[in-house]
Amino acid sequence: MGRVSGKVILVTGGAMGMGRTHCELLAEEGGIVIVTDMNESEGQATADGINKAGGKAEFMSLNVTNEANWKSVVDKIVEKHGQIDVLVNNAGILIIKPLEETSTEEWDRTFDINVKGVFFGTKAILPAMKKAGGGSIVNISSIYGIVGAPMAAAYQATKGAVRLFTKATAVDYAQYNIRVNSVHPGVIDTPMTKDLLHGGDEETVKAIMGTTILNRPAQPREVSYAVLHLASDDSSFMNGSEMVVDGGYTAQ
Ligand SMILES: NC(=O)c1ccc[n+]([C@@H]2O[C@H](COP(=O)([O-])OP(=O)(O)OC[C@H]3O[C@@H](n4cnc5c(N)ncnc54)[C@H](O)[C@@H]3O)[C@@H](O)[C@H]2O)c1
Repeated sequence: MGRVSGKVILVTGGAMGMGRTHCELLAEEGGIVIVTDMNESEGQATADGINKAGGKAEFMSLNVTNEANWKSVVDKIVEKHGQIDVLVNNAGILIIKPLEETSTEEWDRTFDINVKGVFFGTKAILPAMKKAGGGSIVNISSIYGIVGAPMAAAYQATKGAVRLFTKATAVDYAQYNIRVNSVHPGVIDTPMTKDLLHGGDEETVKAIMGTTILNRPAQPREVSYAVLHLASDDSSFMNGSEMVVDGGYTAQ
C-alpha cells in the first residue's frame, strides 16, 4: 500500500478496460487520480467507484486528439493540485483489417488517437513536470509495437511509433528528471478485445489466443501492476525502457 502516495496522476482513457483498472490500482496505492476520457458517464463512474472505495479520484472530460482540451485539463489540475507527477497515456483504439481494406480515414483516426494523443499529452504536461522537478510518463504501446501480426498494420504502425517516441522523449527529458517508459501488453480481456475474444469466429479466437503462451488472456489488472511500478519511485532508474506483459509470447 502507498506506493504512489500523494502523487497526482492523470490517466487517459480511464473510463473502461485497462484505463479503469490503472486508475483503481493507482488510487488504492495512495495516488490522487485524475480519470480522463471522452466517455463522460463511464469516466465519472470510474471516479465515483474509487471515491466510494475510499480512494481519491476525480473525472475530467478529455479527448486526447484535442490539443486545446489537453491544455485546459492540465491547467485546471495544476491550479488545483499544484503539480502533476505522473501521466499515463493509455487511451487507444484498435483496428483489425487487411491493409488493402484500410481507408485513409481509418489510418488517420488510429494515428490521431494512438500517436498524436500521446504527443499532445506529453507536450502539455512537460512544463508542469519540469517545474515540479521531475515526473514519470507511462505510454501504453503493445506487443503489436514490437513484433508483426496479421491484419493489424495501421494499429501496429501506431504502437511502434509510441515505442520509439517513448525512447526519444526519455532521452530528451532525462535532464529534467522526467522518466518516460512504455508498457507492452499482450492479449488482455477488455471491451477493446471483447468482440474478438468472446464473439469472434473460431479462426479469430484461435488467432488472438495464439498471442499468448499461457493459454488465457490477461485480466486488465495484471497490466496495471506494471503501470504502478513505472509510476512509482520503485522504478527510479528505469527510463526509456519497455515493460512487456504478454504471458511470454514475445519471448519465443
Ligand atoms: N486489450 C488489449 O488486448 C490490448 C493489448 C495491447 C495494448 N492495448 C492498449 O491498451 C490501451 C487500453 O486498451 P483497452 O483494451 O483497455 O481499451 P478499451 O477500448 O477497453 O478502452 C479504451 C478507452 O479509451 C477511451 N478513448 C478512446 N478514444 C479516446 C480519445 N480520443 N480520447 C480519450 N479517450 C479515448 C475509450 O473511451 C475507452 O474508455 C490502448 O492504448 C490499447 O491500444 C490493449
